[in-house]
Amino acid sequence: MNLIGLLLILSLCFSATAMDRQDLHNKAEQEFFNTHFFENGRGATITPNISLFLGGMNRDGGSRQGGVLDAWIARQYGFTYTEDKKFLGVFGVKYKGMEVGVLGCTACHSGKAAGVIVPGLGNKTIDVKRIGREVERVQRALRIFRDTNDDFRYIYDKALNFANVINDENIGNLTRGLVPDSVIKTFFYRDLGRQYPSDMPRLQVKAPHLWGFAEKRPAGIFYDGIANGNTYAWMFGAELFASDSAEHLRAVLPGLIHMADNVLGNLLPPKYPFEIKEERVTRGRAIAENRCFGCHGEHNRDMQGYPIYEAPKVIELSKVKTDAERMQGFDLELERLVEEGSLSDLLYFNRENIGKGYFAPKLWGVWSRFPYMHNASIPNLYEIFKKPSERPIVFDMMDAGEEKRFDKMKVGLTTYNQREYRRALRKAERGDRDIYYTKRVGHSNSGHYFSWMANWSEEDKLDLIEFLKTL
Ligand code: HEC
Ligand code: HEC
Repeated sequence: MNLIGLLLILSLCFSATAMDRQDLHNKAEQEFFNTHFFENGRGATITPNISLFLGGMNRDGGSRQGGVLDAWIARQYGFTYTEDKKFLGVFGVKYKGMEVGVLGCTACHSGKAAGVIVPGLGNKTIDVKRIGREVERVQRALRIFRDTNDDFRYIYDKALNFANVINDENIGNLTRGLVPDSVIKTFFYRDLGRQYPSDMPRLQVKAPHLWGFAEKRPAGIFYDGIANGNTYAWMFGAELFASDSAEHLRAVLPGLIHMADNVLGNLLPPKYPFEIKEERVTRGRAIAENRCFGCHGEHNRDMQGYPIYEAPKVIELSKVKTDAERMQGFDLELERLVEEGSLSDLLYFNRENIGKGYFAPKLWGVWSRFPYMHNASIPNLYEIFKKPSERPIVFDMMDAGEEKRFDKMKVGLTTYNQREYRRALRKAERGDRDIYYTKRVGHSNSGHYFSWMANWSEEDKLDLIEFLKTL
């Protein structure tokens, strides 16, 4: 065969595999959007038949479109509302003659950035506490139907407990866009028949991005890697607290393993949807290689230009100095609770990571992951390169994924002008949940500032930001 023939065959092979990874991503996206882990009456459910009042449910047997009320509900509670007028990750499941409303993984684990729906991105606007409060009210009003039959009562009681826990003033999230990990801990107290302590830390974090998770899992699950990924079971953490027993996790475990390896494993990071100034990228890359990749690791691509995912590594808190609250609650006490409980054969810890620090996450798709850090305390990339004392104390979380909230220069959330800032600060001090306020517990925007950043010119920062858009 001559050289041209060989090249032709090679390029055909490459374009075939190139299509494959994009195809696999598209397939994974569809599967992810349509999956929930309701099983035999168990799962993140609400009282049967409440969901019948909503239009835009992803329901068995076909959906009707949502209306004005649905759009309002989506915005108020922070669900992602799709173009065909459906709530992402909210299902209506037929079960024993009832329709059960079920929350799926994508209610938290898919969301919008700059107006684009991204599978596997954390939902920036969901307000778990507010959802719990409203659902609890409606469920209490429906108490009269509670006695109709055993199946109804079983789901009703569980759903009410779920709503109660996420609506708990003492341990719930204080701001929309943050999910309280404290609720995961409540499962393990309940598992042992104990009341959870009311002074438990809230452990508020944004829902993490999930592309690259297949390669991250062996290094540890969650922001701090304390959860051992060998059995995959910790992936169910955020759903577990809505369950009544360990049996639910055991029943869905094969599905979770499939999800990690074949669904999340195939997700690609979203492409930056606006212009990239190529002339800045080369300089930006040099800065990143010099200053960022030491902690965040290499970001190499395969022959077709797709990311080669690698495991991140944990950096000591004393080095990164971001908010410590999240680390304080996933501790030796949690380990003891788990070891005594009914899932001790499936949930292990990476002991060496307890109390150590946070992963320096891989930066693939980082343009879409704002507000930044595990607690979402820095609104855009540009602010990361400023001293913590010069970063904004308040910024708006409403519509955070919409295009009008995207700042193309700073890459991330738009911030208030001076006049709005003072007004927002007053509202934030009164507890406004739609405003991120860095003085709240767990919301500190300190850290991730390194002395060498002080020497950067404006051009250096813009070059680096331009490079980060390409990841
Ligand atoms: C209520 C919102 C919510 C729901 C629903 C939810 N998660 Fe999560 N998930 C989170 C949060 C928040 C974290 C981060 C916890 C931490 O690291 O402190 C997380 C972490 C994870 C991680 C670990 C990511 C990493 O980088 O280590 C995986 C994997 C995951 N979830 C998968 C799932 C799957 C699968 C489902 C559905 C069965 C699901 N989640 C449902 C909020 C949610
Ligand atoms: C000393 C190690 C270290 C260095 C150097 C470092 N980082 Fe980080 N970075 C971290 C850690 C650890 C986190 C997670 C902190 C947290 O979530 O609280 C992080 C988080 C981030 C995030 C937030 C990601 C997200 O999804 O919210 C961005 C963006 C980021 N780093 C960019 C950079 C860039 C750009 C550089 C180079 C200028 C850099 N980092 C240098 C350790 C480092």
